[in-house]
Amino acid sequence: MRAFVLAIDGPAGAGKSTTARGVAKGLGLLHVDSGSMYRAAAWLALRKGVGLDEERPLVDLLSRARIEPSPEGMLVNGERVEDVIRTAEAGEAASRVAVHPEVRRRLVALQRSFARAPGVVMEGRDIGTVVFPNADLKIFITASNEARAERRFHELRERGECPDRSGIVEAIRERDRRDTERAASPLARAPDALVLNTTGLIPEEQVELATRWAELARRGAGRATPVYWLGKSFVRVFARIFLDFHVEGLDRIPRKGPLIVACNHISFWDPPLVGATIPRLMHFVAKAELFENRLFGALIRSYNSIPIHRGSRARAGLRGAEDVLSSGGAVLIFPEGTRNKSHTLLAPRAGVARVSAATRSPVLPACITGSNQIRRSVLRQVPIRITFGSPMMPPRSLEVGREEARRYASEVMEAIAALRADQERRYGSDRRR
Ligand code: C5P
Repeated sequence: MRAFVLAIDGPAGAGKSTTARGVAKGLGLLHVDSGSMYRAAAWLALRKGVGLDEERPLVDLLSRARIEPSPEGMLVNGERVEDVIRTAEAGEAASRVAVHPEVRRRLVALQRSFARAPGVVMEGRDIGTVVFPNADLKIFITASNEARAERRFHELRERGECPDRSGIVEAIRERDRRDTERAASPLARAPDALVLNTTGLIPEEQVELATRWAELARRGAGRATPVYWLGKSFVRVFARIFLDFHVEGLDRIPRKGPLIVACNHISFWDPPLVGATIPRLMHFVAKAELFENRLFGALIRSYNSIPIHRGSRARAGLRGAEDVLSSGGAVLIFPEGTRNKSHTLLAPRAGVARVSAATRSPVLPACITGSNQIRRSVLRQVPIRITFGSPMMPPRSLEVGREEARRYASEVMEAIAALRADQERRYGSDRRR
């Protein structure tokens, strides 16, 4: 059995440990807190009188030590160090030890060795970017500075320390600065990481959301039908050979787990072009009317299209998409609800927010331009460009009210508009040609 790897990254105090521990427990996976390995290394250095800024002696020290996670916490040469490495000072010392590339190289090699079946949930700062760039799922956990400081404050109090609030905010800021600015493996969000902002969430909520994503990512998507596979291959080859075709942001697409790709819609070429570009099995929502012709209906159905109904049946009409997402699949949705060639994006329908909320699926904004001028693209007069944005977190609640749905859908539309504005800034607009 292959090991399932969930990479959880984020700054101090955002809720990584609570989430990672909870997901690992729920899914029966090993939990490794890579931060505690840097803490253990720093603790060992302090104990042996090795300077935290001296790379060579630190590396020598590590090559003689055995650092390993256990159900009781981190062990150094068999000694349980969990309590002594949890202080604020140990955290500071860890972040100083962590700037040395050779120290990191050793600890990263050790971290990789923990990817054993059935799987591992590893938390840290560089797990999705450096330690496991091919992780099955990456989650980047954030929270506001205030929320993070508040959590650290309570954590330290529970441990019997008497922390000073403003000192904590200052320390968090300083640690963030050091972690993001260091040359070796700085704290950074992997482009394809799902964001989990824990501000205002209770621990159970964040664990539940991350566990759902992980569970669905582990289940894996279904298989492509021959028609789908053939269609996709045909469109890819056609686009590459005959069109002036450009794609950006493929590295931002999470490869597993539920995903809604939300794109602007200018041409009937959009579903095949966007769908064939995405490196995973896609499903498409399409107007129910398109299925009325039996032959065409059968064709698009085998190309993974799901009929959606409008008006009073709209709610039920989205159920097909929800079923796909609830089994870990990916769906392409056009939030504008209809084709729109004008340069002004239409106000989005609320469906994207409802489906995302009900299935807890992240939304990936995407933007396509030029697809309404296929002939001119063949003549190399108009480029067709597809740009993918970064995954957005679903709305907080399962059931969104009208207002919240509208607000969320607008945020998605704004993200699509921002992608298009960015394209135009860099390449100019089609409109001028
Ligand atoms: O997460 P925790 O606060 O225990 O981490 C302590 C320090 O270890 C961090 O501030 C960071 O400098 C370092 N660290 C790292 N890479 C990781 C995990 C932790 O550099 N993967």
